Amino acid sequence: MKTERYISGSEIRKRVKELGKKITSDYRGKVPILIGVLNGSFIFISDLAREIKLQVEIDFLKLSSYGDSKISSGDVKLLKELNCQVEGRDIIVVEDIIDSGLSASFIKKIIEKQNPASLQFVTLLFKKGISNLDFKIKYKGFVIPNKFVVGYGLDYAQKYRNLKHIYILKDA
Ligand code: IMP
Ligand code: MG
Repeated sequence: MKTERYISGSEIRKRVKELGKKITSDYRGKVPILIGVLNGSFIFISDLAREIKLQVEIDFLKLSSYGDSKISSGDVKLLKELNCQVEGRDIIVVEDIIDSGLSASFIKKIIEKQNPASLQFVTLLFKKGISNLDFKIKYKGFVIPNKFVVGYGLDYAQKYRNLKHIYILKDA
């Protein structure tokens, strides 16, 4: 499949540093729990966590909705639950990309049921004009057009996650 380089590894590094700095100052005096959404956020969360100069805890949850398709099936399922106590804690959900916003809305519902002290989302990529979210995403790495992207954790049919840069996937 054809790919076109879209965001370089060094641009990503720079932006992740900025996000880490912002989160560090916003959460001063707190011990937030970073919740990575598997599998796509595994590289982003590991880089971001190291740019946050605070004590943090880290946990993961796993959703499925896409299968091997490029279009969301709209049917979100929880494949791995959280293993942390959310009640009274400051939660930061770490997403690779927000596209339709279905996953983010689903996660928000699950977490709010457990009464966190606060809940915010950080996403590396945010697809402009697609997300029909009824809440704000506080931390966005890059706002991108409606193109299918891979690399830096993001897959197409489970491939390309290990690429250092982010690429637009041209249709096969
Ligand atoms: P949403 O529920 O439509 O916001 O989609 C969220 C999930 O779909 C992300 O966490 C990704 O795993 C996947 N996804 C959405 N757009 C893309 C893309 O352009 N490339 C790779 N994965 C994507
Ligand atoms: Mg995916």
